[in-house]
Amino acid sequence: MKILGIESSCDETAAAVVEDGRKILSNIVSTQIERHKIFGGVVPEIASRLHTESISYVVGKSLEQAGCTLSDIDAVAVTYAPGLIGALLVGVNYAKGLSFASGKPLVPVHHLRSHIASDYITHPDLEPPFLCLVVSGGNTLLVKVNGYTDFKVIGRTRDDAAGEALDKAARTLGLPYPGGVNLDKASAGGDINAYTFPKPRVSDNPLDFSFSGLKTAVINTVHNASQKGEEISVRDLGASFQNAVVNSLVTNTEKAVIQENCTTLVLAGGVSANSMLRQRMTELAKKHSLKICFPDLSLCGDNAAMVASQGYYEFIGGKRADMSLNAAATMPITEEE
Ligand code: KG4
Repeated sequence: MKILGIESSCDETAAAVVEDGRKILSNIVSTQIERHKIFGGVVPEIASRLHTESISYVVGKSLEQAGCTLSDIDAVAVTYAPGLIGALLVGVNYAKGLSFASGKPLVPVHHLRSHIASDYITHPDLEPPFLCLVVSGGNTLLVKVNGYTDFKVIGRTRDDAAGEALDKAARTLGLPYPGGVNLDKASAGGDINAYTFPKPRVSDNPLDFSFSGLKTAVINTVHNASQKGEEISVRDLGASFQNAVVNSLVTNTEKAVIQENCTTLVLAGGVSANSMLRQRMTELAKKHSLKICFPDLSLCGDNAAMVASQGYYEFIGGKRADMSLNAAATMPITEEE
């Protein structure tokens, strides 16, 4: 079964064809990074306009590379939530048009569910149930994946996402957008103990996260140093800050592993590309004899192969949308509002 996936939730316009949820036949990503760089972050209005400009080309190219026409496709899957609303609407409306014109079923896909599906493509033998840490630019969640379309959130951030904190730290340290990956590179070999950061605490759920205090702490550290005329080591401060974020992610994940008696741990989302996080989670998996899965680096960021993969599982689970499908800026992964 071949699914055409379409993704436009933030700053990548993407389309892909995936067979039976696991085999990539094409995976086209048009990134807008260069156009947002001068602003230091994504400008939503510009993102929407660029999606509108490139979506036809990207979808056409994905069909061409897969050696397909629309008639060979079994369903059109599209990211409908969560994300930048104007950006999402471009993909949703395009997918609705394709579905209407071709008579192919339309399948709405939740963005974070699709990030998890990037691990199905990377690890052909991976099947639920497993514990998943979803760490992206806008979300940080500990999820029990009981089935391909059955999710239970057991931990979440109370404020900022881990990716948001890393991006903010990068920006404060003068590193270019996109922050997370540049902070990762700039911190390589840095001293993780050079600077101290508070340990985030959340009172009533030990599996919940909080990153806003860490974010404020890194801003204050840089600010105070510049007021005193002290020089900051980007490498050491970057390494110390990443260590603080990673410690929090690893600590809660370990608690979840023990609480839920897990045997398989999966990471998903843009931040799962982070080298320190990968190393520390690999150590955690070794300590508890867990099977551990990371997405292939090429699938950590936003792409449509993961949308087509999750779309396949949603489709065989019976999910369909009609021409009234709308986009939503926020939506829990359980899709129960
Ligand atoms: O999953 P994603 O592409 O977008 C959302 O769906 O939100 O994640 C983007 C996030 C950004 O915060 C970006 O800085 C971060 O992932 N990121 C990284 C790395 N690569 C991307 N963070 C840390 N280290 C990296 N190597």
